[in-house]
Amino acid sequence: MKFAIMGTGVMGCGWITQCAMTGHEVHCFDSYTDAVAKAKDTCQNLAGKAAKKYKIDDPEFGTKTVNNINTYQDKADFITAAKKCDIFFEVIFEDLKLKCDVLTELLPQLPENIIFWSNTSSLDIDILSEAGGRPERSIVAHGMNPVPLMPGVEVVPGVKTSAETLESTRKTLLDMKKVPFLAPNIPGFWVNRLLFPQMLDAIRLLEQGKIKVEDGDVGLNTCLGHPQGAFKLYDFVTTPTILRVALQMYQASDDPRIYPPLLLIRMVKNGEYGAGSGKGFYDWSDPRNPKARDLSQYVIGTAEDMTDILK
Ligand SMILES: NC(=O)c1ccc[n+]([C@@H]2O[C@H](COP(=O)([O-])OP(=O)(O)OC[C@H]3O[C@@H](n4cnc5c(N)ncnc54)[C@H](O)[C@@H]3O)[C@@H](O)[C@H]2O)c1
Repeated sequence: MKFAIMGTGVMGCGWITQCAMTGHEVHCFDSYTDAVAKAKDTCQNLAGKAAKKYKIDDPEFGTKTVNNINTYQDKADFITAAKKCDIFFEVIFEDLKLKCDVLTELLPQLPENIIFWSNTSSLDIDILSEAGGRPERSIVAHGMNPVPLMPGVEVVPGVKTSAETLESTRKTLLDMKKVPFLAPNIPGFWVNRLLFPQMLDAIRLLEQGKIKVEDGDVGLNTCLGHPQGAFKLYDFVTTPTILRVALQMYQASDDPRIYPPLLLIRMVKNGEYGAGSGKGFYDWSDPRNPKARDLSQYVIGTAEDMTDILK
């Protein structure tokens, strides 16, 4: 199969690696040129982690993976390559308007037979597929982070998605060594519909000074078996992505549990994005030994604290 992947951020690189390491040809583009420039290195690194996890004993595995990847700095060149692909995969910011604008501009330029996948975490596939103008051949394939290490993929068809698109998506994902499962087209689908209220609650409890970063993670790791706990995971998801998903889910559902906490908004405003930016819930100055941060300056303990902030 040939994939055109738009977006080479955290999830884009994950999917590029997954496609390439399972023998598929990938063409990718990002509007941020630095992200495109770094993509192959990031993918080689991810392929190395996958080789370790799945005990793939091939010293050339990373190089072979990267050989299947083509990156484009120029959008017109990417579109030319995308025209010869089987699947166009959108992996850009979680923003409904942005995604719709991009799809409205791009999909009509591609042959009708190309299937459109979106990696959205929460957005309505019917709105995205109408924007792209090929609803029968549009579907969500929502992978988990890091894609090459997490097998599950939520597959979310829209009302007009054809049975052929659903079946070919399922088969392609199985061929890519993923584990697809059917999820409902509701804000957050299945996984984030359950996960997001919990994630935001953890951040709210931190904001209220009820729990510390390290205790929170040790607790979830040792009691529930969550490999990274909560806050360390959020540093890989990144705070801007959590904020975007929460806002989009809140707007679509009006569910007050998903209204983003002030602490999250302030971290994003301060550039504390997580592991990649050096600071999030942990200090990542030494990436091998992240240190839980004292976030007490963000704590809103009392009503007085809250009104002080407003002064
Ligand atoms: N981070 C996660 O853990 C996670 C997990 C599952 C799904 N998702 C979903 O995956 C998608 C991407 O998230 P991410 O975490 O990779 O975000 P990211 O911020 O790491 O990457 C998004 C990329 O999209 C690029 N982009 C934005 N507008 C563009 C445009 N018009 N044209 C081309 N490129 C553009 C950005 O430059 C950026 O590199 C979102 O829909 C998100 O909800 C994220």
